[in-house]
Amino acid sequence: MTILVTGGAGFIGANFVLDWLKAGGEPIVNLDKLTYAGNLESLASLKGNNSHVFMRGDIGDANLVESLLKQHKPRAIINFAAESHVDRSIHAPEDFIQTNVVGTFRLLDAARHYFAALSDADKAAFRFLHVSTDEVYGSLELNDPAFTETKRYEPNSPYSASKAASDHLVRAYHHTYHLPVVTTNCSNNYGPYQFPEKLIPLIIHNALAGKPLPIYGDGQQIRDWLYVGDHCTAIKAVLERGKLGEVYNIGGNNERANLDTVKTLCAILDQEKPRTDGKKYAAQMTFVKDRPGHDRRYAIDPTKILKEVGWRPAETPESGFAKTVKWYLDNDAWVKNVTSGDYRNWVAKQYA
Ligand code: NAD
Ligand code: DAU
Repeated sequence: MTILVTGGAGFIGANFVLDWLKAGGEPIVNLDKLTYAGNLESLASLKGNNSHVFMRGDIGDANLVESLLKQHKPRAIINFAAESHVDRSIHAPEDFIQTNVVGTFRLLDAARHYFAALSDADKAAFRFLHVSTDEVYGSLELNDPAFTETKRYEPNSPYSASKAASDHLVRAYHHTYHLPVVTTNCSNNYGPYQFPEKLIPLIIHNALAGKPLPIYGDGQQIRDWLYVGDHCTAIKAVLERGKLGEVYNIGGNNERANLDTVKTLCAILDQEKPRTDGKKYAAQMTFVKDRPGHDRRYAIDPTKILKEVGWRPAETPESGFAKTVKWYLDNDAWVKNVTSGDYRNWVAKQYA
C-alpha cells in the first residue's frame, strides 16, 4: 500500500513526509508543483529511500493525477498542496483560486473516479484527508469563544476564501458521491523548514541578519501557535480514527499576541546567539503598515479532536519555540538556499 501526499515539499507537507517515513509508515508518492514554497532540500535526507517517490506536478493536472492513482493505488490521499501566504493572496489572488479551488476540485474529481472503481474492501479502507485552516472561520473579538467545528464560515482574505471554497467542495464530494473524506482546520504552525515569509521564520531570519523585525499595525493580533510536528501527529490520528465526513479543528492551546511572540523569539535568540554589540534583538522591532483586512484573533477549541480522536499536542510553547530557533540556527544552509532570488523580490515588494 502507498499513500499519495500532495504539497509534500512545502513546510507542513515535508515535515509530515519525514515524520511518516521515520515512523515506518507506508511508502509515499509525493506530488508537488515546486512553487517558490516547495523545496526538495527539505527532503534531502530521503535521497535513495525507495519509500519516497517524488513527482513534480500540479494537483490541477487531471491526467497526471489519474495516472498516479492508477499506477500507485494509494489507500489514502492527503492534500497539503496550496498557495498558503495571506499577504501574497492580497497582492495576487488568482494563483490561490487556481490551486486552492480549481486544483482541489480536480484532485477530488480524480479521487472520485478512482474510488468508484475500487473493490469493496479497498473502498472501506480509502480516505481523502483535506488539510485546511482555521482562517476559514474569520476573525474573533478578544472575548469571543474559540472556533468550534460548527462556527459559521466567514473568510476575510482571498487566501481564506479560497480555502473555504475547497472545504465546501470536499464536503460536497462526501455528500454527493460518498467519497470518504475528513477535513482538518488547523491554527498557525511553526517549526523546521518554514519559508521565511511567515512571521516566525521571518523574525528569526531578520534578527540574525541585523534587519528590522516588521510588526504589522499594533502587534496585538492573536494567533494560536502549534508546533508543526504536533500538526503532523494530529493528521495521522485523524487519518486513522477520524469519522468519515467529519471536520476536526486542531490547535495548540497557545494564544499569543504577535508582539509577545516576537519578544519571546528575541529573548531566545539573546540567550542562544547574543548580538555582538551587546544590544538586545528586541531593539530591531519595527512597527509597519498593517495588513489590509487583518484578522484580529484566531483561537481553536480542540475539544472534538481530543474526545473523538484522542489527540493533544505534545510540545509546549516554550519547548516548541526554543526547538525552532535552534533549528534555524543549525540550518543556515537551508535558509540561505530558500532566500535567494524570488525571496528577495518578495521582501522588496511586501516591505517597501
Ligand atoms: P507551503 O506554502 O509551505 O507549501 C505548499 C506546498 O504546495 C509547496 O510545496 C508548493 O510547491 C505546493 N503546491 C502549491 N501549488 C501546488 C499545485 N497546484 N500542485 C501541487 N503542489 C502545489 O504551505 P504549508 O504552510 O506547508 O501549508 C500546507 C497546507 O496546510 C495548506 O493547505 C495550508 O492551507 C494548510 N495550513 C497551513 C498552516 C500554516 O500555519 N502554515 C496552518 C493551517 C493549515
Ligand atoms: O491560521 C492558520 C494560517 O496561519 C494558515 O492557514 C496560513 O497558511 C499561514 O500562513 C498562517 O497565516 P497568518 O497570516 O496568520 O500567518 P503569518 O505568519 O503570515 O502572520 C502571523 C501574524 O503575524 C499575522 O497576524 C500577521 C503578522 N505578521 C506577519 C508578517 C509576515 C507581522 O506582524 N509581520 C510580518 O512581517
